[in-house]
Amino acid sequence: MNAISKPSIGNGAYRIVDHTYDVVVVGAGGAGLRATFGMGASGLKTACITKVFPTRSHTVAAQGGVGAALGNMGEDDWRWHMYDTVKGSDWLGDQDAIEYMCREAIPAIIELEHFGVPFSRTEDGKIYQRPFGGHMQDYGKTPAMRACAAADRTGHAILHTLYQQALKANCEFFVEYIALDLIMDDEGVCRGVTAWCLEDGSLHRFRAQSVVLATGGYGRAYFSCTSAHTCTGDGGGMALRAGLPLQDNEFVQFHPTGIYGSGCLVTEGARGEGGYLTNSEGERFMERYAPTAKDLASRDVVSRAMSVEIREGRGVGPLKDHIHLHLEHLGADLLHERLPGISETAKIFAGVDVTKEPIPMLPTVHYNMGGIPTNIHTEVLNPTPGDQDRVVRGLMAVGEAACVSVHGANRLGTNSLLDLVVFGRAAAHRAAETIKPGATQAPLPPGAGEASFARFDKIRHTKGSSTVSDVRLQMQRTMQEHAAVFRTTELLAEGVKKMNKVAAGYEDIKIADRSLIWNSDLLEALELDNLIGNALTTVVGADARKESRGAHAHEDFPDRDDQNWMKHTLAWVDDKRNVKLDYRDVKMRTLTNEVQVFPPKARVY
Ligand code: FUM
Repeated sequence: MNAISKPSIGNGAYRIVDHTYDVVVVGAGGAGLRATFGMGASGLKTACITKVFPTRSHTVAAQGGVGAALGNMGEDDWRWHMYDTVKGSDWLGDQDAIEYMCREAIPAIIELEHFGVPFSRTEDGKIYQRPFGGHMQDYGKTPAMRACAAADRTGHAILHTLYQQALKANCEFFVEYIALDLIMDDEGVCRGVTAWCLEDGSLHRFRAQSVVLATGGYGRAYFSCTSAHTCTGDGGGMALRAGLPLQDNEFVQFHPTGIYGSGCLVTEGARGEGGYLTNSEGERFMERYAPTAKDLASRDVVSRAMSVEIREGRGVGPLKDHIHLHLEHLGADLLHERLPGISETAKIFAGVDVTKEPIPMLPTVHYNMGGIPTNIHTEVLNPTPGDQDRVVRGLMAVGEAACVSVHGANRLGTNSLLDLVVFGRAAAHRAAETIKPGATQAPLPPGAGEASFARFDKIRHTKGSSTVSDVRLQMQRTMQEHAAVFRTTELLAEGVKKMNKVAAGYEDIKIADRSLIWNSDLLEALELDNLIGNALTTVVGADARKESRGAHAHEDFPDRDDQNWMKHTLAWVDDKRNVKLDYRDVKMRTLTNEVQVFPPKARVY
């Protein structure tokens, strides 16, 4: 690493530091750490840049389990897992990627076990597996036990193990650094990334043979979400500023069981262990909406059913605005052994003793199915009309930041942790195949990173009239009202107008703190910039999609329309924040053609 002697921005006010690595991973959640450690272990000089200490990344909050057809607690088959995932995606998932994920799930989880993840165990010492919504045996016949769990703290267990493995592989961590922008050359090749160190205020240029975006989702674009405050779509924002598209951002998953008031997650594993939902009449209403899967129907179905119950006046509580989740019948012993984390969360955030009373619940934003488009090797794509699979050299994306697309229009529970692990691993495999450790890298293009630092400097000195939190709140309320569980033509059109106003409002923000060290005002302004790009692509993509599919439930177009809409949305945002849309085919061809799933004419849950 070496300091640049004459920084050309801010009249020398910045200390700018240059670094060279084989690979730089941005983000230290499950996907980022799996990629980091795998790349380090294969001999590549690997850096990981992260906003928070790695074991505080949002993956730590993942609860119920990671899906893999291990068959430890009943017959299972990766082909059944694949079938469920394609169907769960409402036929928007790419079947090559889904086959890869479900097949590779098995070795990837066994590897995790060997790396040291402390999974819960069956009587005979195998990894414990619980049922989860939408996971079935024998092509949809009966519920499967597929979620490999470490009590209800599975993400926590995985994250700690991967961090330890990354340290063992000599990976270098840049903790409390926020990545600012990708460094692209004139040929559209990614050559590195810029970052700001929150601890000492320095700016950084990381040059690398490959950059991996593993920055997570953008749940914080909404008012109520299960996501950590750090989930601000930074990778998506960086991709958009580099002229790259985001794919399928209109598909935003609501988790049925967020704690009323705080949005904290109560795992679907709670229903997997036998928990159930009731309305104000004490009715187990899911039996009406999904007679077979009931409370374990897929998340879009349960979230919509809960919203209908509330809308039709059967919500619970003084305002009749939420639903009850019952666990008290499961008994204190089981709750203590299998669901200790959520028992504590319910006490802290709802004041409820789960052994005695139901938990108040409301569907809450949980996951972004869309993201930066990639192929199954995790290489980022910048499709053109003539080449839908055009690869951006030097750039990879994994995890919730990416859209590979294994979740399509709706993700099944447990497939998120799986996506992180399988595609973090795939990125490491691809890097090992394509990158030579220590290969000489060409100098960065002249002026590399300067536009990024100038953007940083401009935001730092901005003197408008609105606070960052005001503009963020307007965005969050707009998204919550206009791009939520139910959507209509009118609501979406209004949402687009309001989001355009929010985006224009960003140009008039004021930053009160001009310092460089742990300036949270500036940090939040940078994050808001990223959130706005993601939010715009979400609402504009949703406004254009005239059908209902997965998480996109459009009341004026209630049916899925495979004829016209079985296609991925691509959305670009220009520097005036205008959104341009295009579309890309769904991949119906699998890798091996062992299973091929075509949509039925009618929806079946
Ligand atoms: O409900 C849960 O435990 C969440 C799991 C997931 O989103 O995959």
